[in-house]
Amino acid sequence: MEIEEIYRKYARCTRCPLHRGRQHIVMGEGNPESPLMFVGEGPGAEEDRQGRPFVGRAGQLLDKMLEAAEIPRKDIYITNIVKCRPPGNRTPEDEEMETCKVILREQFVAIRPVIIVTLGSAPTRSLIDPQARITRVRGKWVERKGVRMMPTFHPAYLLRNPSGKRDAWRDFQAVRDAYREVLAR
Ligand code: URA
Repeated sequence: MEIEEIYRKYARCTRCPLHRGRQHIVMGEGNPESPLMFVGEGPGAEEDRQGRPFVGRAGQLLDKMLEAAEIPRKDIYITNIVKCRPPGNRTPEDEEMETCKVILREQFVAIRPVIIVTLGSAPTRSLIDPQARITRVRGKWVERKGVRMMPTFHPAYLLRNPSGKRDAWRDFQAVRDAYREVLAR
């Protein structure tokens, strides 16, 4: 299935309670042919308003980091574990993430990423290890089904804890190097 078909298939999704508060479903955006995918937690207020991922304050920081790593945002694919905004920006519940993951799985099948960056604890737990502590696992590559995965801090966390930026920048450099390698193949 192509990415646009997935969007159409779930455009009116009501599988979990998060649909009740949404203005827009935020499916994701970018290059559906990209070997590199970023997965965040869920849309915030601005994302819900615009229907686009990472366009609020955290998104602006993500943009800066991508720019510094010379990874053009339009070249990669960016999405979230849940596609509808959790009320008050709370962390999505396990059940909401599990329910919504059917969409993400179809996105993985359509896009076939080679590298996945998980931004923060929620996507790291949901995709890599339910017990993972982001402070321990960040910066370490893990392989799942032939896909290289890099957990790193969520940009919203970095806005609150700027001292984490140095580590996150290291992670982004590792991702950039791996991405360049894949592109050079
Ligand atoms: N935070 C996220 O995790 N995802 C977004 O799209 C925006 C903010």
